[in-house]
Amino acid sequence: MSRVCLILGLILPTVAVAAPTPRSTPLNFDQLKNERRIRFNDDWRFFKGEAAGAESPDYDDAQWRTLALPHDWAIEGPFDRANNANTGGLPVSGTGWYRKHFVLPAEAQGHHFSVEFDGAMSNAHVWLNGHEIGERPYGYSSFALDLTPYLRWDGENVLAVRLKPEPDSSRWYPGAGLYRNVWLTMTGPVHVAHWGTYLTTPDVNDARATVAIATDVENHGNAQAAIELRTNVLDANGESVAHATTSGAIPAGGNERISQQLEVAHPARWDMDRPYLYSAVTEVLQSGAVVDRYVTPFGIRTLTFDPGKGFLLNGRYRKLQGVCNHHDLGALGAAVSWRATERQLQIMKSMGVNAIRTSHNPPSPELLTLCDRLGLVVMDEAFDMWRIPKVKNGLSKFFDQWYERDLRDLLRRDRNHPSVILWSIGNEIPEQNKAAGGELAKRLTAICHEEDHTRPTTSAFDNPDGAIKNGLAANVDVPGFNYKPTEYARLQRELPKDAIYGSETASCVSSRGVYHLPMKLESKTADHQVSSYDIEAPPWAYCPDVEFEAQHQLPNVLGEFVWTGFDYLGEPTPYGNAGDWPSHSSYFGIVDLAGFPKDRFYLYRSVWTDQPTVHILPHWNWAGHAGQKIPVMVYTNAQEVELYLNGKSLGRKKLGVDTFTMPVGKNVSKAGTFVSKFRLEWDVPYAPGELKAVGYRDGKQFAVDTVKTAGAPARIVLTPDRQAIAADGDDLSFITVRIEDRDGNFCPLADNLVQFHIDGPATIAGVDNGDAASLESFQGGSRKAFSGLALLIVRSRSGQLGVIQITASAAGLQSGNTSIAAGK
Ligand code: GAL
Repeated sequence: MSRVCLILGLILPTVAVAAPTPRSTPLNFDQLKNERRIRFNDDWRFFKGEAAGAESPDYDDAQWRTLALPHDWAIEGPFDRANNANTGGLPVSGTGWYRKHFVLPAEAQGHHFSVEFDGAMSNAHVWLNGHEIGERPYGYSSFALDLTPYLRWDGENVLAVRLKPEPDSSRWYPGAGLYRNVWLTMTGPVHVAHWGTYLTTPDVNDARATVAIATDVENHGNAQAAIELRTNVLDANGESVAHATTSGAIPAGGNERISQQLEVAHPARWDMDRPYLYSAVTEVLQSGAVVDRYVTPFGIRTLTFDPGKGFLLNGRYRKLQGVCNHHDLGALGAAVSWRATERQLQIMKSMGVNAIRTSHNPPSPELLTLCDRLGLVVMDEAFDMWRIPKVKNGLSKFFDQWYERDLRDLLRRDRNHPSVILWSIGNEIPEQNKAAGGELAKRLTAICHEEDHTRPTTSAFDNPDGAIKNGLAANVDVPGFNYKPTEYARLQRELPKDAIYGSETASCVSSRGVYHLPMKLESKTADHQVSSYDIEAPPWAYCPDVEFEAQHQLPNVLGEFVWTGFDYLGEPTPYGNAGDWPSHSSYFGIVDLAGFPKDRFYLYRSVWTDQPTVHILPHWNWAGHAGQKIPVMVYTNAQEVELYLNGKSLGRKKLGVDTFTMPVGKNVSKAGTFVSKFRLEWDVPYAPGELKAVGYRDGKQFAVDTVKTAGAPARIVLTPDRQAIAADGDDLSFITVRIEDRDGNFCPLADNLVQFHIDGPATIAGVDNGDAASLESFQGGSRKAFSGLALLIVRSRSGQLGVIQITASAAGLQSGNTSIAAGK
């Protein structure tokens, strides 16, 4: 068997290279009929630049590059200081064209076709066969366009998309291009409308749940259509547990909403620990025959936001242990990837995260599907600004014309996801200061309630007093506050009827594995890194401990969303000024851009989970510092920790008793210090060897961590996160590249340049190391290690099964090898 795989692996790539790319992809009627909606991602032609007349079907695009979506042209680089570092130093603006040629099967005549973009960055205009069929300025909105009127049945169709993202249109890296999935939908003339189902569970108890389903049915025919609407609720095993059939008449060229109520006995709840999913299968029947079938996954759960009790999910108290994340996927840029998104969420969950904020824009649909499956609750955010711009060419430019459409589309797309618990109408909206802010908030909240009466609205306020004064806070259901842990008690008194929470917290900054001595607040340093003692934060922000304290004091504050879970491209605070190049990605992440945990990961894990955690920092490679006192910290959820250097005890310390006084900004304390109960600290005179921390709970050993002084880098060790991936052209394996000395000790300072070589059916999807100041390409075949680690991301090839052999080599080091199976 493995020999067969190996042979396939060797032969198939050659075949693929030799095969000419077909100009048109003939579509398969049976597939369209059976699947209703198919991916429309393959064989697009792309051109970066102006291309006069490229909307015309006759335009000659033979020389354009052929590629598969999702595609982010900006991540291809190059980095350039002329590009704004706050948007990643990458080419995120300009014009890009995408064209797709396709032929429809003759049997499909009479059917209805639409194309759906999960997002197009940005200022999209779309033409079919030379006819403009739609536009969408906001790059994060999903939209569907009707293709039917302009389809050709006598030959080829050409769909053309022009994108024109402007400079200064974002505060972070937006990506550029058709960076999300594109879909083609075929239905009969009578069908469930786009995002045409809305499921709610108005009454839930242990014995039964009422499921209310509103279904919009469209009729493109020129006669009224008599239909039956049949809905089956399936449990997670696919067994029908409730059904209803309702008759209706859909007017010619019109649509009709049909309401049904079903009862599910002994409903399994969707919850964080057990995210149980049902699905509603909607069938439209004409004369007894099924003419459309539409599936909506959903969950049964109750949400309570109580000013006194906090957040309750299914009646149970849950503190929101949330993170804010931007949408980019590090080295892969903004190009949507199921696996890369899943990995991010899994890493977050392993730290104890139970909530995600999609800062500050509509997420990919895949992110919500994954949160549904992983049991993560979501604050789904619409906007980063309204009418008053934060950046010159931001969405304020088209806000008045588009906000209602963008907001309604977000709600209709996302309202069946059980993971979504809050609709955020905006982040740090400058209108907090303006009289008109309250009215606009009222309008946006009203739109949310019209589209979904089951979830509260929220907004993230950095100016609580302004938002309270102008009525903005009163016009959202659950006010959120950014960076105000010391004011929660006052805000609760001022807003006694509201449940409140930290919509954005901490903004601590650090670079993985980098420590500066002596430990002190320092903001910028010559190395363009931030020391990882987790005390550094910009003036409006603070270290995690301050928020922990506030949340512990006030259990009825719903919880927090840390800025940020992952490092992201752009906004390299504190190195965000023009002179700070080459810094171009954030230092805020608890996890670095490559997905490697920084020390803070263990601080959050120790507070948010019961997983035995003892984590020592810094590393123990301080040549030249012999005898010098080095601050050693331990992040732990043990009750007591004993620290040893080379086998000699340095004493025990008790968590919550032996506090650590850390420097903080004046926003936290006038004295400039904060006493943390959440970490332990020793000053240890340096001697090479082994530092060991042993944690105890109830007198028993609970967890241990050791850090050893490493010798010279000697070898490379590769560890894939998954050793078997699907040969579908999308799936990824994330391979950790670790530099060790000859005894297998991790080399925390290693920065060797590592070259990658792949044999077999895979390509390099990206390389990274988490260094926010590195100008190496994310798409090269090599990467320097940063603080001892690098990352290689390998992507399978579609339909090509076999063994992928990976070799990593570096001058003077023993190479590392690993293999991955690409299978069905
Ligand atoms: C907040 C803002 C975020 C990010 C963060 C950095 O004020 O909402 O988008 O800029 O600051 O600390």
